[in-house]
Order: sequence, then structure tokens, then C-alpha cells
Amino acid sequence: MKAKEFIERYYTERKGTSSLKWDALKETFGADDLIPMWIADTEFKAPECVIESLTERIQHGVYGYSYVPESFYEAVMDWEYTHHGYKLQKEWIRITPGVVAALYWSVNLLTQPGDAILALTPVYYPFLDSIKDSGRRLVACDMAYEKGVFSFDAAAFEKAIVDNDVKMYILCSPHNPVGHVWTYEELQTMLKICKKHNVFVVSDEIHQDLTFD
Ligand SMILES: Cc1ncc(COP(=O)(O)O)c(C=O)c1O
Repeated sequence: MKAKEFIERYYTERKGTSSLKWDALKETFGADDLIPMWIADTEFKAPECVIESLTERIQHGVYGYSYVPESFYEAVMDWEYTHHGYKLQKEWIRITPGVVAALYWSVNLLTQPGDAILALTPVYYPFLDSIKDSGRRLVACDMAYEKGVFSFDAAAFEKAIVDNDVKMYILCSPHNPVGHVWTYEELQTMLKICKKHNVFVVSDEIHQDLTFD
């Protein structure tokens, strides 16, 4: 679908719908006439098939307790395999109310209070909050920056791990906010260093489908 056609079909005004992005501007930033680029939240409707399926569920009219059906797991596994060639097993999947909740849970499950946890900065701010709010030690390692391009500095990364006895690294892949899609080699280097120093890697891949060749 061409961009123009996509916009005409899916663009939707969100102001006046209790939208955090648009309707909380004044409360958050003190002015209404701002372009809220801080949040990953679009002006585009979900695909028709999603809206139809949700509408059908809502029309049923009873919203009692439900369980996670087999078709849910199959959908997740099929998506990962079809789009990323990654074969998941059902037993590996856990359900959380969101990615940020999963970050907090991982930090609490896999490390002890006072442990050092590494993030490559700048990074999506809840990474930093999940570490600090959980009584862990934040080790922020700045990405290298030159002429508007952020990149991975392997030496600084390893030094930060060794100097601080880091126990966990929270990876953002692709990286928000710098927009970097890690190369295979960069990921190999990162993960080898983590393995060498026994560092758990928690990888937030929420933006995995937003990569373009
Ligand atoms: C890297 C990253 N992780 C997680 C989230 C949010 O995930 P959730 O809303 O499922 O907690 C965002 C949203 O911008 C994000 O950029």
C-alpha cells in the first residue's frame, strides 16, 4: 500500500479521546501547541481484521474470566517463525500485561537488591526506572556518538561490566530512541562479552517488526 493511500485509510484524529499523547500535553509539558514526539503512539487505526475481531468479542456482551487458549500461543509462535525465522516453544512463553511489567519482573527475578544492571544510554526511560525502582544499581554506558550517528562501543561496554560487576544487561533491539538496528556482528560481540562475564541478557524486542531493509 502506498503511503498516501495508507494515511487516507488509517489516519484518525485522537484529540478528545483521553489520549495521553495529545490530551495530557498541557498537564505534562505546560503547553497545548506542541508536537508530542516523546511517545511511541500512532495516529493510525489498527488493521480492519483486528477491529472486526475485537468488535465481535465485545458484542458477545459477557466479559467474565477467560483462559489463554491454544490459538494464542500458536499465533505468537507462528508470527515469530514466519516473520523472524525464530522457532519458539510454548513452554518458553510467559504472559505479562506489558513489556514494562516484564522488565520489572525480570529485574526482580534474575538479580538481587544492590546488584548492578547495565543499560546502553540514551535508552527508553522505563529501563532505567525498572533498575532504580527495584533497588538495583544502574550502570549507564553511553553509546558512541559521532556526526548524528550512535553506535556500539564494545570496549566501553566491557569495561562498564567489569568495573561494576554487572549481573544483568537490558538490551533494546532495535534500539529506542536512537533508531539503530543492531547488526549481526554487533549482537554477537555484545552477547559474547555478556557470556564471558556471566551477565544475564534481557532483550526487549518490541520494535522487532519495525525494521526496514
Ligand atoms: C523499547 C520499548 N519497550 C517497551 C515499550 C512499551 O511497552 P508496554 O507498553 O508493553 O509496556 C516501549 C514503548 O514505547 C518501548 O519503546
